[in-house]
Amino acid sequence: MRKALIVLVALPLLALGAQPAVAHGHGDGKTLRQAAPRDLRIGSAVAGGGHHVDQPYPDPFTYDRPYRKVLAREFNSVSPENQMKWEFIHPERNRYNFGPADAIVRFARENGQVVRGHTLLWHSQNPAWLNEGTFTKAELRSILKSHIFTVVGHYRGKIQQWDVANEIFNENGEYRQENIFIRELGPGIVADAFRWAHQADPRAQLFLNDYGVEWPGVKVDAYEALAKQLLADRVPLHGFASQAHLSMRYGAPDQLASVLQRFDDLGLHTAITELDVRMDLPEGGVPTAEQLATQATYYKTVLDACLAVDGCNSFTIWGFTDKYSWVPVFFPSEGAATVMWDDFAKKPAYYALRDTLKAARR
Ligand code: XIL
Repeated sequence: MRKALIVLVALPLLALGAQPAVAHGHGDGKTLRQAAPRDLRIGSAVAGGGHHVDQPYPDPFTYDRPYRKVLAREFNSVSPENQMKWEFIHPERNRYNFGPADAIVRFARENGQVVRGHTLLWHSQNPAWLNEGTFTKAELRSILKSHIFTVVGHYRGKIQQWDVANEIFNENGEYRQENIFIRELGPGIVADAFRWAHQADPRAQLFLNDYGVEWPGVKVDAYEALAKQLLADRVPLHGFASQAHLSMRYGAPDQLASVLQRFDDLGLHTAITELDVRMDLPEGGVPTAEQLATQATYYKTVLDACLAVDGCNSFTIWGFTDKYSWVPVFFPSEGAATVMWDDFAKKPAYYALRDTLKAARR
């Protein structure tokens, strides 16, 4: 609908030789998506579900109109923050709840955005019926298989990238035993999840996704070994993603480009999928100018890493406003992790991203 309107408005302007206003995509570099190089998607998580349910506000994506406007204007990729997770989309064994995720996919189509699907095989945010049920191995395997076929199939052709396997290794680079599927069925289930997802949507790019992979170490080594093995076995793995949940308690992610490059060298896509940069809030809760400047350099360093690697085509921040950030809920005394304040006013980190994108586009 909106597209038709643009054509109608643009035609007379073109006839007069004037430049039509560009609603989406490449314009004068005023928003992140407009500033970005053509082959790089700029994304945000779409707030809803998860921790939001316990907060004193209604579902952000559904009810906050200014929020939706910024989401449409600034980004050309969206990731459901919780709405495609098992506990949300598959709340009972024989019932799926597609409504909230469908609304995001529709919004994305209307606004010229791609969607990153998140996630299919994870240890967290699984429904009670799955966590507490008693199943034979064969049953559990068929539960995972039919979940993947149903969910990926439902969105067939509408998802650019799927985080198929999320956080499957612990800090020691071992398979996480908290993951019910890995624990009960063994690590080979990871390959099956990729095969099933590929059958259900042959065009979606299928990713491994984790945090704590922003610096080299045993976790990165584990992913590199797994990626090599999956590729050798002709498993449809297409990408490796760094979530990049960063804290200013630790150093800047200055080795991220070299980590991403190792996966690029295997022929994989890479992506930044959940970037935020939290900090210890001073008394009163307002970050200092110096903290905001440091935060901006962290954001820029992550974007620079992605820009430096050929196959890094997707750069997503985990929400764009502190109003809805998961950080204060999960990391007590830390906060201010996103690029905009509660009222969507822009922080230095926002401008650092925009200026870096603009410079890269030339
Ligand atoms: C977080 C969400 O932001 C919260 O709303 C939810 O309560 C918990 O999960 N790694 C991931 C994301 O892959 O799915 C997590 O998102 C953050 C860490």
